[in-house]
Amino acid sequence: MRLFIAIELPEETKRELGRLRMDIPGARQVPADQIHLTLSFLGEVDEAALEQLTGQLTRITLSEIEIHFSGTGCFPDRRRPRVLWIGLEPNPRLNALAALVREAVLACGIPLEERPFSPHITLARIKLPSPGMCDAFLDRGKKLRLPALRVREFTIFQSRLTTQGAVHIPLRSFPLSAAGVSGQR
Ligand code: 2AM
Repeated sequence: MRLFIAIELPEETKRELGRLRMDIPGARQVPADQIHLTLSFLGEVDEAALEQLTGQLTRITLSEIEIHFSGTGCFPDRRRPRVLWIGLEPNPRLNALAALVREAVLACGIPLEERPFSPHITLARIKLPSPGMCDAFLDRGKKLRLPALRVREFTIFQSRLTTQGAVHIPLRSFPLSAAGVSGQR
């Protein structure tokens, strides 16, 4: 099955992000209920590796993390905007969680791409980007203000590809400890 590990967002945040108006021809907006913060994309993993991974992830002991949104942006750049996202302010504790997740995945023999963790929440994808087509949206996004969020857990998701697009199914969640909040500014 096709798996990824992500932070689920509160319903209210997903609704708010899903409501953003883009007015960009050809942009495929991520449906509100699927908006998430990816920690690691695993790709195809079998049942045995999933069991092993569950054991590894259970051993992660980190406290809850407070995350702060920053403005909108795109990959790879404004001349070829393929992925539109909302970014997060730099957060060493979130980076630490992503690094521990990555180690756990590799320890199970699941190969990962070399790409460094670049925290973002994808809002839309564009198949045929052209220079500047997203600039108005990206500029409006600078003014977007969202409340900080407390991350209390992370989740292994299955991504099922259907004719209507991907469906994300939460399989297992792993709590962070409530003892203290890390990453507060
Ligand atoms: P994203 O967070 O940049 O949108 C589920 O597919 C999630 O895993 C998506 O949110 C997606 O990226 C992320 N992901 C990372 N690498 C991927 C890849 N090679 N194929 C599909 N999804 C990938």
